[in-house]
Amino acid sequence: MSDAGDGVRLQKVLAAAGVGSRRACEELIAAGRVEVDGETVHVMGTRVDPARSVIKVDGLRVTTAESGRVYLALNKPRGVVSAMSDPHGRPTLAEYVQDREERLFHVGRLDADTEGLLLLTNDGELAHRLTHPSYGVSKTYVAEVPGPVRPDVGRRLRAGVELDDGEASVDSFRVRERFGSRAMVEVVLHEGRKHIVRRLLEAVGHPVRRLVRTHVGPVALGELPPGQTRELTLQETGRLYHDVGL
Ligand code: URA
Repeated sequence: MSDAGDGVRLQKVLAAAGVGSRRACEELIAAGRVEVDGETVHVMGTRVDPARSVIKVDGLRVTTAESGRVYLALNKPRGVVSAMSDPHGRPTLAEYVQDREERLFHVGRLDADTEGLLLLTNDGELAHRLTHPSYGVSKTYVAEVPGPVRPDVGRRLRAGVELDDGEASVDSFRVRERFGSRAMVEVVLHEGRKHIVRRLLEAVGHPVRRLVRTHVGPVALGELPPGQTRELTLQETGRLYHDVGL
């Protein structure tokens, strides 16, 4: 950070990152809402290195194009393995990022049979923290299970269920829809053990027939079609960083 010479003016960097118009960004700076490398900026002409400076607005980190960092949401189709290559020749994630120059990694895994939201990035620190249970980022899954679902299922899952590798619990559980002998249930949890949702639901008598991940922390799958990717918004990356203490 410097007042003159090197770097690019902060309001220009903020505007280019999509925070708002140049004028709106100047107002944010004037209001003391912008931080660079841990210090609140008060000087309007401040110049920053858009590739390296850690810039925050209202405490949420702003991703600049110059940082070279890429954050994508993929709606992983069923049958695709969560890997960039597969010794058995099954479809992989590489198919969905082959046009990208950056070397992207997937943030955690979904079972080949599971569909839904998978994040891809070249930001190693963020990816590491998002997958580490100690940061407690919640994930939401919607599962189709045989019904009817007894009223005590949510309580049992929240209280904790004994699995082969120890106890596991969910943060929340609800029945979203019931149709005859089937039900759609929603589970929110923040741990990432293998097959955890399938094992938990099986343990309470509801083996999963179809599983879709709909949210990772603040990022929602929304209407993204299967096999499609989209870039995360500035708000989504800011909140992801915030949720893992970056
Ligand atoms: N839990 C599962 O059982 N499968 C997944 O793919 C993700 C979470």
